[in-house]
Amino acid sequence: MELKLGLVGFPVKHSLSPWIHNQFMEKSGIEGNYSIMEIKPDDSFELELERIKESQVNGFNVTVPYKKQIINYLDGLDKNAERIGAVNTVVCKDGKWVGYNTDGIGYVIALRNKFPEIFHEKANRILILGAGGAAYGIYYGLKSEGFTQIDIANRTHSSAKEIAILGENEVKTSILTLDEAQEMINSYNLTIQTTSVGMKPNTEDTIIPVELLKRNSVVSDIIYQPLNTRFLMDAKQAGASIHYGHTMLLYQAQYAFELWTNKKIPIDEMDQQLKTILEGR
Ligand code: ATR
Repeated sequence: MELKLGLVGFPVKHSLSPWIHNQFMEKSGIEGNYSIMEIKPDDSFELELERIKESQVNGFNVTVPYKKQIINYLDGLDKNAERIGAVNTVVCKDGKWVGYNTDGIGYVIALRNKFPEIFHEKANRILILGAGGAAYGIYYGLKSEGFTQIDIANRTHSSAKEIAILGENEVKTSILTLDEAQEMINSYNLTIQTTSVGMKPNTEDTIIPVELLKRNSVVSDIIYQPLNTRFLMDAKQAGASIHYGHTMLLYQAQYAFELWTNKKIPIDEMDQQLKTILEGR
């Protein structure tokens, strides 16, 4: 049987997910197809989903702007996705659609592969810049790993506060302004940039200056277009170890593919291949 997978979102024409999942299928010897299922904002979301249901897909990814909206059309929801309130992966089995969120876990696995030492000290101080959908998943993923000190800095205080609720009594979280984050950046062992600031075409923008950061800290940016964001370049210049955004994309996809097929495909050389693709864009 051919595996039928796809991606729902808008705009998704330039997405790298088809490349990633086609690689996974090839590596696992599974025949199938991962297609773009773009739903335009003017289209009827419900009708388009009906069409997808009729096509008997085995599963699909969901990206902006539908990660929340899709929840109303599902038959079940994994605990993680329910807590985060957003779905990026749907498993379709026996006519039932179940939603998952692999973004935060993808980030955590990518980080652990590159910087395992961070995971040896759960009291390491972590700063998340931004409080959008991605920050939600990452905060929850880090909390699930047992990290106990995760601060959030965002332009809009209220959305950072909403994320902090996820910490319950297990995570100590201060909510900072971006100016405060800039002043306090040298207190963190790990800083994670999750806003859209610095994304193509605004590649000269950066969310905060980082000259003051701890020289031996780790700095992540989840933006992967460009791969070398101004933020990461500044962090490198200041002496930090940097963690590129495309790795989160790879590992969230690895986990999604595992949910669809029960097969965990090693990333291996795909890391470098994806880097090369992105550098050529
Ligand atoms: P995603 O799902 O990728 O996380 P999102 O939910 O739209 O995207 O979140 C975008 C994040 O980037 C938010 O934290 C947003 O800040 P606000 O909550 O204040 O909107 C942040 N962001 C986007 N543009 C920004 C800018 N020019 N300055 C500061 N923060 C910005």
